Parts: sequence; structure tokens; C-alpha cells
Amino acid sequence: MNLILLGPPGAGKGTQARHLVEKHGMTQLSTGDMLREAKSSGSEMGKKVAEVMARGDLVTDEIVIGLIREKLTGEAGGGFIFDGFPRTLAQADALGTLLDEIGQSIGKVIEIRVDDEALISRISARSSCASCGEMYNDITKPQPADGKCSNCGGTEFTRRADDNEESLRQRLMEYYKKTSPIIGYYHAKNLLNAVDGLAEIDAVQKSISEILEK
Ligand code: AP5
Ligand code: MG
Repeated sequence: MNLILLGPPGAGKGTQARHLVEKHGMTQLSTGDMLREAKSSGSEMGKKVAEVMARGDLVTDEIVIGLIREKLTGEAGGGFIFDGFPRTLAQADALGTLLDEIGQSIGKVIEIRVDDEALISRISARSSCASCGEMYNDITKPQPADGKCSNCGGTEFTRRADDNEESLRQRLMEYYKKTSPIIGYYHAKNLLNAVDGLAEIDAVQKSISEILEK
């Protein structure tokens, strides 16, 4: 089953996607991760998007649809998890077409609901392992005291360039202006399910599992 995880910055899309990959062998397609990889590889496209991302603006539909098109060449064993894509109505339409072309469809859309205050505190506390991407949070899941990642033993941790208050405010504005209309779009297609993203990480996982089993 192919799944879309929808929600504002810091809602927990990446955290939940990683869990689904481990549990169900699904394939995570995060356009944010792909763009950050392009940025660190120093490619032309990476250079072009770096400033846009740091400001908290959305990258053009053309670029992100191109990235997703490259990945949708075959079937993913446990299904694809779209994390942070689509983010505009044009991207949602394009995803439908791309999946159609390979004889697939979207099984469920899960909206992770979190209020703005929690997002600000989560994002400003976030870090991740530079080697494996394991996510940490200064408040809810601090980096291990021995300085080694609990998942891979890596010793370097990073924070994102757009995880500051000013960029976050812009990311939220982009979410409400350009992304939130797709909630209605998938509701109309009868694919939308919502979970309480303010609950503990495990409880959110459980709610998502229940939706997937329905
Ligand atoms: P992207 O990388 O997708 O960032 P985002 O949507 O802003 O979301 P985040 O990754 O910040 O949050 P998340 O929901 O994954 O939360 P996480 O699990 O990390 O996009 C970045 C940028 O790239 C965009 O601004 C744009 O410029 C560009 N871009 C990407 N896709 C695009 C597209 N399709 N179109 C155009 N531009 C695009 O959790 C956050 C923190 O909270 C962590 O510390 C975690 O440990 C903690 N946490 C998670 N769940 C819980 C919980 N239940 N309780 C307590 N803490 C929790
Ligand atoms: Mg993420």
C-alpha cells in the first residue's frame, strides 16, 4: 500500500516514516531529504534550492515532481511512504498521474495534526545522527549521554539550517497557504485519515497502524 504522510513542519512525518520502514519494509520518499542530499552533494540543483529551503519557502513544483518521478520507476516491496510530498495541489495531481502510469495508486493519506506551539518547541530541539539519520530531540529524546547514536553508534549529530524561529514561521505560512488545501483534496477522494500528533511517538505509531489495518 502506498501512503502519504501529511502534516506541518515538525509534525513527526519523518519519525513515523522511519518506523514504518522498519516495521513494514516500506520505502520512504522524503523530498526534504532528497533536496538536502542534493544540497550537500553540491549539484547545480542543490545550490539553487539551498537558499529557498533555508528561508522556509517551498521549492518549485517542477523540481520536486522531477525528484519523485525518478524514484517511481518500479514497485516498492512494502509500498511507498510519501513524506513531505505532495505539498501543493499541482504536486498532488502530478503524483496521481505518475502512480497511474506505473499501475499504482495511493492507499491512504494520514494527516498528523499538531498545534503550532508544539511545532516550534519540537523543531528548535531537534537534531539527528549525521550517519544514519536517527532523530533526537533535546526534550523528548535526548542524544545518548555516551555521545554515540543509539541506532548506529555514530558520534556526529547535526541540526538543520532551516530549524530556526524565522524560517519555521515561513515554513508554517507555506504550509497553511499552499499545502493545507490538499487536505480537502484527499478528503474529497475519500482517502484522508487524521491522527493526533500531539500524543507520544509510540501512541502516534499505534494510531497509524490501526488506520493501515482498517
Ligand atoms: P521537509 O524536510 O519535508 O521538512 P518539513 O515538512 O518542514 O518537516 P520536518 O522534516 O521539519 O518535520 P517532520 O514532520 O518530519 O517531523 P520530525 O519527525 O522530524 O522539507 C524541508 C524543506 O524542503 C521545505 O521547507 C521546502 O523548502 C523543501 N521541500 C520539501 N519537500 C517539498 C515539496 N514537496 N515541495 C516544495 N518544497 C519542498 O519530528 C520533529 C521533531 O519532533 C523531532 O525532534 C522528533 O524527535 C520530535 N517528535 C516527533 N514526533 C513527536 C511526538 N509525537 N511527540 C514529541 N516529539 C516528537
Ligand atoms: Mg521530516
